[in-house]
Amino acid sequence: MKTYHIALIKGDGIGPEVITQAQKVLDKAGQIYGFEVVYDEFLMGGCAYDTHKTPLPEATIRGCLQADATLFGAIGGAKWDHLPRELRPESGLLALRKALEVFANIRPAIVFDALKLASTLKPEVVCGVDLVVIRELVGGIYFGEPRGKEADCAYNTMRYTPKEIERIAKVGFEFATKRRKKLCSIDKANVLEVSELWREVVTQISKQYPDVELSHQYVDNASMQLIKDPKQFDVILTSNLFGDILSDEASMLTGSIGLLPSGSIGERAALYEPIHGSAPDIAGQGIANPIAAILSAAMMLQHTLHNTQAAQAIWQAVSRTLQKGYRTKDISAFDAKEICNTHQMGDLIAKHLEQV
Ligand code: IPM
Ligand code: MG
Repeated sequence: MKTYHIALIKGDGIGPEVITQAQKVLDKAGQIYGFEVVYDEFLMGGCAYDTHKTPLPEATIRGCLQADATLFGAIGGAKWDHLPRELRPESGLLALRKALEVFANIRPAIVFDALKLASTLKPEVVCGVDLVVIRELVGGIYFGEPRGKEADCAYNTMRYTPKEIERIAKVGFEFATKRRKKLCSIDKANVLEVSELWREVVTQISKQYPDVELSHQYVDNASMQLIKDPKQFDVILTSNLFGDILSDEASMLTGSIGLLPSGSIGERAALYEPIHGSAPDIAGQGIANPIAAILSAAMMLQHTLHNTQAAQAIWQAVSRTLQKGYRTKDISAFDAKEICNTHQMGDLIAKHLEQV
């Protein structure tokens, strides 16, 4: 039997609640598809600061590098907002992404048929949306130097080298090749030099992928197009900051940010996490939607553990659970048959997995 070694970072807020459900579904998939998952738990974020006075202990980086992949919940909360930036939970996450060099962040936004009424947009606009945002994750303005805050100003630097753009562009084109062969690169090349370079390099790389239709949009226009006609998109390729913003926007096409998984991959490690945050306002109430975390585990099976069968079965189990009308509170507004709490939703998905 295959054994997968998974580093588990539950994190803060609703992180532990949703990750417990992802483990439940992953373990059930193991029973059905013949693998075992061994978890090693590590701290990161506010909880790490509370015990170790740092948001990212060395042991966490080591553990994630040694594991086959890392599954992570969420970090942050008002409790740690007063800390200096380098000690805040968010800094732990950014430093972890950097340490693992997971430069490609994959964020699919897929509208489940059963949830076509859950979006604030009209069903005919969102029905059938199936896009993926490929976001550069370890460069750009998040990490560019110089950065600083002085008495009379504050500044950050949006910086990319051709090499950084090349490697993320290749990931984007590889995804497009396996999908509907359309890639839209999103930048602000009408204003920013860094975007001009982005556009040049992406255009250059596109020559290696003649089957993929490349288009470019400015980020302001793209944010409008995403709402106006999201079905025009297949693969969206973009930089760190633009990807952060556009992926939150894309999540609302699906009905709830509680539905969107993500995977961050690179040469040496892989990190899977729901795109939602730690939601301190609902933490501990058992009402968080675990689907984003569960689908993050499915993405981990697909992209890093190469167990496509189990991965697809989890997507199907989620889809069937939703088809039957089971809803967590965040997606219950229109057509819930039964409102479930976090662990009931996990149980239902695990049960449906047996029937896929
Ligand atoms: C995300 C989050 C993070 C980011 C925060 C928590 C640092 O918003 O994963 O999208 O900005 O990348
Ligand atoms: Mg974000």
